[in-house]
Amino acid sequence: MVNNNMQLFGGGWTEQKLDMLNSYLDAWAKVMKNQSFERLYIDAFAGTGYREAAPTVPDTGFFAAELAEDEPQEFFDGSARLALRIRPAFDRYVFVEKSRERFAKLLELQERSPELGERMEFFREDGNRVLQDLCANWNSRNMRGVLFLDPFGMQVDWVTLEAVARTKSIDVWILFPMGIGVNRMLPRNGEIPDGWRARLDRVFGTSDWYEAFYRPARIQGFFETEPRMVKTGSFNAIAEYYLDRLRTIFPAVADNPRVLTNSRHMPLFLLCFAAGNPSPRAKQAALRIAEHILNKS
Ligand SMILES: C[S@@+](CC[C@H](N)C(=O)[O-])C[C@H]1O[C@@H](n2cnc3c(N)ncnc32)[C@H](O)[C@@H]1O
Repeated sequence: MVNNNMQLFGGGWTEQKLDMLNSYLDAWAKVMKNQSFERLYIDAFAGTGYREAAPTVPDTGFFAAELAEDEPQEFFDGSARLALRIRPAFDRYVFVEKSRERFAKLLELQERSPELGERMEFFREDGNRVLQDLCANWNSRNMRGVLFLDPFGMQVDWVTLEAVARTKSIDVWILFPMGIGVNRMLPRNGEIPDGWRARLDRVFGTSDWYEAFYRPARIQGFFETEPRMVKTGSFNAIAEYYLDRLRTIFPAVADNPRVLTNSRHMPLFLLCFAAGNPSPRAKQAALRIAEHILNKS
């Protein structure tokens, strides 16, 4: 019912990400149903359980008019509620939400799905912290997971992704803030405030992004040419760079991530998929499903 209603609104970026997540969870649950693993759904930026987007991008200081065009839509399921509808059900649901108000709403999921209430764990904390703790105590022999990383902006730290990748058993869908965050923090003249540099380092897990996105040039001044850095990092270059970073820690990364744009076709996020399990059979199966989903219009 929900999906049909969502389609009436014609495939905005919020619907696209949720449709793709839903398709993957559905396929994953079917593939895993006869296996004896403990199966976890982990939503580290869970929101309220309902579909919404916020008018501001926390921590970056940018006003995100592109996001503001999506009003909270209490009528439709967000990622957490979609995951709870998947059958066979997951054995555990880990929901993390930092905002007090959103968290209070999220907790209502327990009453709304009482049959799964005992399987749900809620954390009102930083998603990075919860994930790093969870991964430190992960038993790869008998646990398998799907993780959804759906921040508004630049909140996912690279060290968190490293911790996730080390479990070798968590598949990840991540909304990488290519347009809404990274591109805006790369001014044309290369003069990047220290705070932005630090944030970019934390998201990429390295500082060599600067060489990837800027090159030295000489610009004509009044009397002579002056040395300057100029931006060469297009959206494509940013996307390729991030995919290459993911490939350094995950056994397989989908080659066809989806660019999510606003109604004016401005890229906001890049929806990426990384498979966690290095076994050839598992990673090929995960990749085949994810790439198929990403290919669908
Ligand atoms: C895009 S929304 C999530 C939407 C949700 N996935 C859905 O489909 O319904 C991002 C959420 O992350 C929360 N958030 C922001 N920073 C966070 C952090 N460091 N840790 C956990 N949650 C955070 C925000 O309050 C917001 O509710």
